[in-house]
Amino acid sequence: MDQISKGLEDVNLKWTKLTSIDGEKGILKYGGYRVEDIIKAGALVEEIQYLFLYGELPNKKQLADFQEKIQEGYSLPKYVINSITNLPRESDSVALQMNAFAALAATRKFKWDKQTDRDAAAATIGNMAAITAAIYRHILGMQPLEPERGSSYAKSFLKATFGKEPSKIEVDAMNTALILYMDHEVPASTTAGLVVVSTLADIYSGIVGALSALKGPLHGGAAEAAIAQFAQIGDPSKVEDWYNQNIESGKGRLMGFGHRVYKTYDPRAKIFKSIAVNLVKNNGEAEKMFKIAEKVEELGIANMSSKGIYPNTDFFSGIVYMSLGFPLKNNIYTALFALSRVTGWMAHFIEYVEEQHRLIRPRAVYTGPEERSFIPIDKR
Ligand code: CMC
Repeated sequence: MDQISKGLEDVNLKWTKLTSIDGEKGILKYGGYRVEDIIKAGALVEEIQYLFLYGELPNKKQLADFQEKIQEGYSLPKYVINSITNLPRESDSVALQMNAFAALAATRKFKWDKQTDRDAAAATIGNMAAITAAIYRHILGMQPLEPERGSSYAKSFLKATFGKEPSKIEVDAMNTALILYMDHEVPASTTAGLVVVSTLADIYSGIVGALSALKGPLHGGAAEAAIAQFAQIGDPSKVEDWYNQNIESGKGRLMGFGHRVYKTYDPRAKIFKSIAVNLVKNNGEAEKMFKIAEKVEELGIANMSSKGIYPNTDFFSGIVYMSLGFPLKNNIYTALFALSRVTGWMAHFIEYVEEQHRLIRPRAVYTGPEERSFIPIDKR
């Protein structure tokens, strides 16, 4: 037993009925439904959240009941709001989400059983919208607003964030982004959360674990890092020089490119790009970022596609968020990734704990010194 799988590559951690990925063909399915079909059908994000938690699409009555459960989570205890607003406005948005979920882990009772964990998950989806909207407002120096009940999840979130009625095109774009980021099998964040809940710790602690892993630039942090690199380039005319100096030279990684599983174009990136094309027309800065991104994409594909490195979901998502009015600031784009992914995390935690639970406890292969005598400190 002296082999390790570096980065746990090719290790199957669990069985799942939630998400399947064909990395060679670029196909992503949620519970057997292709993401492109879900988006084309104009599904509400709540329908897909329900699919993740209950295994089937809801009928109208089931959807309305589920939306009510989510909306119960829109009211946050004052101490959760305080766990955000007590920290400096310069704080990282994902770390603020971690703080809010740590506050919930500290105070909420949680039980792993079939009915109550799904109810808790629905309320947590509501909590996450209220938490993320509050974080946005805090970092921009505004008082948090509670999401309104009775509207769709995407609309309530945007309204509680920006404090004004969003347009239909904005609500549709947010709804699509929420669906596209909802789950991706067992990437680093989901795996980190699974390790936590495999100890039978509560679901909120699992979310804190997952958020911590999401934050890094090789995972969710790439959503912000990708657009930050377009902002750094500054102008479409500078793309080629920047690319040659930073990527072609082998010095750095192109953020928003490459994936452990996809060896072709990530289907989510295609959809994000198709929404960005129209959305950027109302936002000069985002439009410039899009023009830069298109040039970077062209060079990246010409240069790296032979190695199976293509745009991933984070390449264009930041441009969509920027078009919606989110600033490139405090890692907010990664917090928006988490807003969506929290459903996938919880669905995986529930699937694992309910159906296939075992403490996750791998081994490490020891490569240190052979046994040796211990020399007391005054003789060393
Ligand atoms: N730019 C330049 N070279 C790359 C890139 C990239 N974006 N991605 C992979 N490579 C090269 C890497 O340098 C290495 O080359 P060599 O074999 O010559 O040393 C080779 O490809 C394999 O890299 P790896 O890091 O061992 O591969 P991995 O399977 O661990 O890569 C990855 C996955 C996502 C960490 C990597 O592609 C990467 O760092 N991408 C940039 C960050 C990014 O966009 N992350 C978001 C991932 S998708 C959304 C999410 O999960 O959050």
